[in-house]
Amino acid sequence: MTRAIGRLLHVEASPRGGRSRSASVARRLISGLTGVQVERLGLFEADLPELDGPVIEGRYALIAGDPVGEAVRGDWDAIREKTAHFLSFDAWLFSVPMWNFGIPYRLKHYIDLITQPGMTFSVVDGEGRGHAAGRSALIVASGALDVRPDGPLAGFDFQRAYLESWLRFIGVSAIHTIHVRPTYGPEDVVEAAMATAYAEAEALAASLCLPERV
Ligand SMILES: Cc1cc2nc3c(=O)[nH]c(=O)nc-3n(C[C@H](O)[C@H](O)[C@H](O)COP(=O)(O)O)c2cc1C
Repeated sequence: MTRAIGRLLHVEASPRGGRSRSASVARRLISGLTGVQVERLGLFEADLPELDGPVIEGRYALIAGDPVGEAVRGDWDAIREKTAHFLSFDAWLFSVPMWNFGIPYRLKHYIDLITQPGMTFSVVDGEGRGHAAGRSALIVASGALDVRPDGPLAGFDFQRAYLESWLRFIGVSAIHTIHVRPTYGPEDVVEAAMATAYAEAEALAASLCLPERV
């Protein structure tokens, strides 16, 4: 059972602002959601603390069941705060361009920050347990190439495939992905890809706003 979406975090992973194709499709999806409170997190403007040597040792301490070292306690308070902020939402909308077959580095940095033992996941009797269970994620994935599953270029997808794997790791089971691709090529082809993505965004928003069956 997936929980109803009251609060949604829009994680924007393109630095292109108003020119971003993925963000533009995400905004269309948001405009179709009724009764949902949306917060935007622009990752290229966000303050993302460094995960350098001493800070990362804190993760190994946590995994061993020890407290993080005194010198990095402030860094870990900031990480805990980012993680709690992320988990305070009912659902997440990621608008993400493909960069070099994967995701933009700022999104990877954010994922590395918030994916921490005892915060977003736990290991119980050797089994991983995600703390985001029962919630949903919406992905708007753009790219110059058409790397959709089942297509001839599917093997180049380390963007949607990675994001979906990570979301499942932290417990998210309901994942809806909209492709915005190809965004490079003849104008009519790109326009058709945008029109399809906008239509899918509107349909997804409408389906998410359907009343729960009793
Ligand atoms: C640094 C960089 C790397 C890119 N690498 C790829 C790639 O590997 N595969 C691809 O299909 N498109 C790639 N692109 C193209 C973008 O994914 C494409 O232009 C997308 O529509 C951008 O989405 P946005 O407008 O939301 O930022 C790359 C673009 C940039 C800026």
